[in-house]
Amino acid sequence: MKKILLLTLFLVVTAFSQVVKPIEMPYVDYPMVKGDHDEVAQQYCLICHSWGYVLNQGKKSRPYWSGTVAKMVNEFKAPIGKEDQQIIINYLVKHYGYESTAQH
Ligand code: HEC
Repeated sequence: MKKILLLTLFLVVTAFSQVVKPIEMPYVDYPMVKGDHDEVAQQYCLICHSWGYVLNQGKKSRPYWSGTVAKMVNEFKAPIGKEDQQIIINYLVKHYGYESTAQH
């Protein structure tokens, strides 16, 4: 009786290991541009989501980035002081944006 149980267990386990294959998650690396106080952006902008999430927006204008940083602080309660917010906005506009008064 014990042998049959063990054999059944063995068969079930082998059957499962054929069916359940490990899923490979795609890994997308979004390196942050170094310099211009990138460490400030790293310190704060990676608390809640990845850098990829930020860069998925593509190149954006200064009003977009300052609005986005303000949204992170006001709505999502990102703990970033005024000075550091400005450093991050300048960093984002320089490396992931352009100077413009347009809202996008
Ligand atoms: C306290 C958590 C938190 C921190 C810290 C944070 N974010 Fe976010 N961020 C969010 C959440 C939540 C969303 C998703 C909002 C949504 O789906 O509408 C988001 C979404 C975004 C988006 C996608 C566009 C959008 O408007 O939803 C961008 C860009 C972004 N964050 C940039 C930043 C930057 C830059 C920083 C650093 C200054 C930052 N975030 C820090 C919580 C945070």
